[in-house]
Amino acid sequence: MERLVINGGNPLFGDVNINGAKNAAVAILPATILASKGVCHIDNVPNIEDINCLETILKYLGCKVEAGNNCISIDSSNIVTTNATIPEVRKMRASYYLQGALLSRFKKARVELPGGCPIGDRPIDQHIKGFEALGATVTIEHGAVSIEAEKLVGTTIYFDVVSVGATINIMLAATLAEGVTVLENVAKEPHVVDVANFLNTMGAKIKGAGTDVIKITGVEELCGCNYSVIPDQIEAGTFMVATAACGGEVNVTNVIPKHLESISAKLIEMGVEIVEHDDSVTVKSDKNLKGVNIKTLPYPGFPTDVQQPMSTLLTLAKGRSIVNESIYENRFKHVDELKRMGANVKIEGKIAIIDGVERLSGAHVKATDLRAGAALVIAGLAAKGTTEVEGVEHIDRGYLDIEKKFKALGADIKRVND
Ligand code: EPU
Repeated sequence: MERLVINGGNPLFGDVNINGAKNAAVAILPATILASKGVCHIDNVPNIEDINCLETILKYLGCKVEAGNNCISIDSSNIVTTNATIPEVRKMRASYYLQGALLSRFKKARVELPGGCPIGDRPIDQHIKGFEALGATVTIEHGAVSIEAEKLVGTTIYFDVVSVGATINIMLAATLAEGVTVLENVAKEPHVVDVANFLNTMGAKIKGAGTDVIKITGVEELCGCNYSVIPDQIEAGTFMVATAACGGEVNVTNVIPKHLESISAKLIEMGVEIVEHDDSVTVKSDKNLKGVNIKTLPYPGFPTDVQQPMSTLLTLAKGRSIVNESIYENRFKHVDELKRMGANVKIEGKIAIIDGVERLSGAHVKATDLRAGAALVIAGLAAKGTTEVEGVEHIDRGYLDIEKKFKALGADIKRVND
């Protein structure tokens, strides 16, 4: 069993380079299915487990996939099946993008229901509502979603909740539909914009990504293209929060500082120094931090994916902090583990009440989901003594070489396999 062993207490100094965005890349890879000719050459792809899973799935469908160092070439011209029913599909959340992509190009898809982190109820009713509005019939049987349409016809679709997945999935489905589709109350996350930019580079006609309304004019076909994935907002946020917790000075490079504004604003409110440059941010902390209140919200609000690392940081800040997790009802599973390390946190439903302590102490802890894993690594790095983090497979789904990156910044962290 793999685990991370951390001797905490070292400050962090130096540069850390941020990879391409996981949640953009896991949508862009399925989106390549839409290219009926030519090859998609995609750069800045993080070499994480979710990407390996998608490569396996795309090959199974008949795509030619060649992966290099942070780049991947995909030729989807000869897809042989629209049945995505191999176990890899169940291992990850983003496999739901196969539904929209296969439906768009072939007017039919059978895709196993997705997996992903157990952070609360994660329905796909808004995805289904969108497919049906475009003219498809959707049935769920034997653990898979079957979708079929004679043709897809553009219409206006209002989403009842702001959903990253539903926004991207219906954007994929509508790209090759007849006429104009208008999506209202959509997600505005940077990765939504990135996927729209990728589709437009392939020949789609999508306007308004990044605002509340996206307008898609259907086109006949899409072709391969060259594209580079945006930097990962959440990985960057994780390293910013870790620096704040451990103290030191870290230059977080290959980022888009605008995407980090909500995280920077909260860190500054806590007493952390942040300097923004063109494509990097410098984070400086003397660990003298004060508690703040946080509410997770769709972009440009504070991202739910940084809530768990941030709540670790707040356990070390002076005074009381209130964290309101408004997106998921079960995203505080790391808190019981933080309590083993001496944190003083009380959970009331979607609210965490955190009273800062002087220090955390190393303990044996277990990650139950991706960002919980990142939160526990940060706790271990900041704590006194040795922390062992189990459940590394969750962390590997979203972070590439997490221990190598922290080690290069001066942390005492290693991966142990026994
Ligand atoms: N929702 C519905 N119905 C739907 C879809 C969503 O009620 O049909 C609700 C969800 O239950 C949730 C809210 O809407 O309360 C937002 O969910 P969303 O659809 O935006 O989440 P997602 O697409 O399943 C993506 C990321 C998550 C990230 C969320 C929110 C991917 C593969 N996953 O999930 O990333 O937390 O958006 O930003 O893009 C992570 O990276 O650790 C992660 C969990």
